[in-house]
Amino acid sequence: MADVSAPDDRTRERILRFKKDFHQRILDQIDRRQSLNKYELKAQVESITEKIFAREELPPFLGLTKEQFKKETFDNVLGYGPLEDLLNEAGVDDIMVVGYAKIFAEKDGKLQLTNRSFLDEQHLRTVIDRMLRVIGKSVNDLNPYADGRLEDGSRINVVVPPLALDGPQITIRKFPSNPHTMEDLIHKFGSVTQGLADFMRIAVRNRKNIVISGGSGTGKTTLLNALSNAIPDDERIVTIEDTAELKLRQPHVARMETRQPNFEGKGVVTIRDLVRNALRMRPDRIVVGECRGGEAIDMLQAMNTGHDGSLTTIHANSPEDVLLRLETMCTMAGLDIPLASIRKQIGAAIDLIVQVARFGDGTRRVIAVTEILEAQDHAYTLQDLFLFHRELVREDGRIEGDLRPTGKTPKSFESFVQSERDQLKEIFSAGKKARAAAAAKAEAPAKAEPPAPAAKSKKDAEKEAAKK
Ligand SMILES: Nc1ncnc2c1ncn2[C@@H]1O[C@H](COP(=O)(O)OP(=O)(O)OP(=O)(O)O)[C@@H](O)[C@H]1O
Ligand SMILES: [Mg+2]
Repeated sequence: MADVSAPDDRTRERILRFKKDFHQRILDQIDRRQSLNKYELKAQVESITEKIFAREELPPFLGLTKEQFKKETFDNVLGYGPLEDLLNEAGVDDIMVVGYAKIFAEKDGKLQLTNRSFLDEQHLRTVIDRMLRVIGKSVNDLNPYADGRLEDGSRINVVVPPLALDGPQITIRKFPSNPHTMEDLIHKFGSVTQGLADFMRIAVRNRKNIVISGGSGTGKTTLLNALSNAIPDDERIVTIEDTAELKLRQPHVARMETRQPNFEGKGVVTIRDLVRNALRMRPDRIVVGECRGGEAIDMLQAMNTGHDGSLTTIHANSPEDVLLRLETMCTMAGLDIPLASIRKQIGAAIDLIVQVARFGDGTRRVIAVTEILEAQDHAYTLQDLFLFHRELVREDGRIEGDLRPTGKTPKSFESFVQSERDQLKEIFSAGKKARAAAAAKAEAPAKAEPPAPAAKSKKDAEKEAAKK
């Protein structure tokens, strides 16, 4: 991605000047008397470049062969310029452009400044127009930002001046051709343990309502996608997203995507509109890519009235924060519902919150799984089922730690089939053992965990009451 031998500032300056001049020479020589299609334009650029190459050698400070320089010229004149290679490079997930001279890329979890740049601001604007034109969008002074999905499914956001202060900005989240599976999250990235994955799968199969929470880029959508795999094949799933990113493998998936307003500010279709519409589509499950506004109240009502097993993500920093955010989102619906009643609905609807985080070493992991036991007028009763314990930071910066069950047994899971209850017992007793071992290690006497009540949970009773 970034060259090992980065040139010094002066050489960079010379390289950029040479490339700009060359670019301009090509543009000057393109025959614009007729409108050319993509192939004709490519043929012209090829022939102009070949003619120049036949007469001139490339300056050595460029550090590129003619073939390499030709490819770069093609990308600049016809393609997405310096972004072209990054878009095609495996392992690069996010690409961020901050003005024409700075391009950042996240590779293997690490965000770094690349040594790529656009030729100048005009070149960056041309590439932005080219990228947006393909998806029928544009940016200008009146409409200085845009959101969309590139042809390959990657998510793009563009902001230009006057909103962007240091030149146009682009943010791209590449669409993974093979989205990470739960097995990847367990074995490749160490984000989730086998026990937690098994627990979450059982929860999904048993129609628990789950919220995945985390900051931006922490892996919420990826986990949601991996988790959705546990939804049985014979169910009808409706997915609702701002930008379609989910890739569900089940045969019966009805996908919907929101719509931004057109240039007259009309025609907007929000997540909330789609959630309401989804209820008329006879879904077995509703999966909402991200919940961030008034749709929260519709989702809670759906979850409490027979559409159990819904999955969504929320931008929040802790399970407690999720609850606060949900309350705020519900009030955004403008329905004038008293807070106590919103709280009751949240308490009855949401079963589990799975909190994810991105660590300083670039890894993304589940850091907590919390069960909502009940909601009273003024507070919720929560119970952590899994917690991540940070243990040490290795020489190479990697953070070591352990994601383990707290030893608390989930309360709202009594209705499961015996084999699943046995499996859960094993998962959670491992937590008790781990806790005891950790306590022994710290030379403190391990406290015995009180046995979990076997009675039907208060939560299930609440849900039934809400359904009536
Ligand atoms: N557990 C993981 N380990 C390593 N990389 C991951 C993991 N989860 C996600 N990623 C990568 O991190 C990037 C962000 O992932 P994702 O889109 O799931 O995050 P997000 O929290 O939904 O982001 P946003 O807030 O923008 O919606 C993606 O490029 C993805 O491939
Ligand atoms: Mg996301």
